[in-house]
Amino acid sequence: MTASAAKGLEGVVASKTSLSFIDGLEGILVYRGYNIHELAPHASFLESVFLLWHGRLPNHQELERFEGDLAVERAIDAKTLEGLLQCVSEKTIPMAALRTGISLEGMFDADAEDNSPDANERKAKRLVARTPTIIAAIHRIRQGMEPLAPDPSLSFSQDFVRMATGEAGSDEAVAALDRTLLLYLDHGFNASTFACRVIAATLGDMHSAVAGGVGALKGSLHGGANAKAMDTLLEIGDPDNVTPWLERAFAEKRKIMGFGHRVYRTEDPRATHLREMSRVLTEQAGLEKFYKMSRELEEQMISKKGINPNVDFYCATVYYALGIPIDLYTPLFAIGRMGGWTGHVMEQHANNRLIRPRAEYVGEKDLRWVAIEDR
Ligand SMILES: CC(C)(COP(=O)(O)OP(=O)(O)OC[C@H]1O[C@@H](n2cnc3c(N)ncnc32)[C@H](O)[C@@H]1OP(=O)(O)O)[C@@H](O)C(=O)NCCC(=O)NCCS
Repeated sequence: MTASAAKGLEGVVASKTSLSFIDGLEGILVYRGYNIHELAPHASFLESVFLLWHGRLPNHQELERFEGDLAVERAIDAKTLEGLLQCVSEKTIPMAALRTGISLEGMFDADAEDNSPDANERKAKRLVARTPTIIAAIHRIRQGMEPLAPDPSLSFSQDFVRMATGEAGSDEAVAALDRTLLLYLDHGFNASTFACRVIAATLGDMHSAVAGGVGALKGSLHGGANAKAMDTLLEIGDPDNVTPWLERAFAEKRKIMGFGHRVYRTEDPRATHLREMSRVLTEQAGLEKFYKMSRELEEQMISKKGINPNVDFYCATVYYALGIPIDLYTPLFAIGRMGGWTGHVMEQHANNRLIRPRAEYVGEKDLRWVAIEDR
């Protein structure tokens, strides 16, 4: 008996998870029991990573220890750095280099082939701690600058800003960046997380799984959309251009980046926070026109198409207002989602079964062999 396929696995429940919950009709996102609206104003990124991995919020001491454990793991393997220095050039796509950086780390990790819970947690800590270091190194090498070593005395997000730019960011900018990471942390069985779980379910190791996740996130229908959303706003250029630009885009049947979602049929709750952050930060940076343009585009997309912005839309102007180069937007998404990917690999390994769906075959079945000279 052959079942028929749900295109793009829409609506298919593939497995169980206790990490995050989405109600697409009501616009609800929950990390381990906590609504995102409870967490976003209060928690730090690493506090929510602890929550995701351990199923409860850390107390003071636990959080300090967790932050400390990750801080001392920030330095990447010397051979990973050597590899990046050899391969990365001005033209390198940062997400492609990140995929390679994660792979290199996997080759040199002492726990690489050990999928036990303890080894998995050690690797998860290293991966979350080192992803910013890899991205900052890629960013600097592309610009012909020396990568900077991590400084464990700084907070997770502070140190990323310093390693990428060579300067300490303002407290407000670092806090805003940290909040975007929290909002990107986890999101059910999104494409990249599902890719990680498929790899983990073969008893593949954590680095292989998350390298697959980076590959899936890179695509413009997934994490690549935050950078494309900014390209769109720059292309529109002015709030007055939104209407003619959108009419043309509809006529050309273009997908508007940063809009639409497979699961949400209403406001993406992460967009609620990012919209407000975008309003405040663009005003502070004297870039109000980009917020105005975004609002106009949002209103027209909702009234003309009934399609809401997703997490990536307002994140674009948040990053733009923070002065972050556009090709780092998707790598930043990866820093946040690394906490989710590693959590999902641990959950998969803790209760594993191979993930192996069927395909609906739509080809021929009864062809006869034809000798090569007769074809
Ligand atoms: C996220 C996304 C891939 C979900 O795709 P999906 O569930 O397969 O939805 P579909 O592509 O089948 O879209 C359903 C309908 O809405 C339209 N639609 C969906 N997103 C759209 C968008 N961003 N712009 C214009 N139209 C869109 C489709 O054209 C389609 O219309 P039709 O039925 O008239 O053909 C899709 O909305 C998209 O491509 N968005 C832009 C990329 C993006 O922002 N990705 C980040 C997601 S967090």
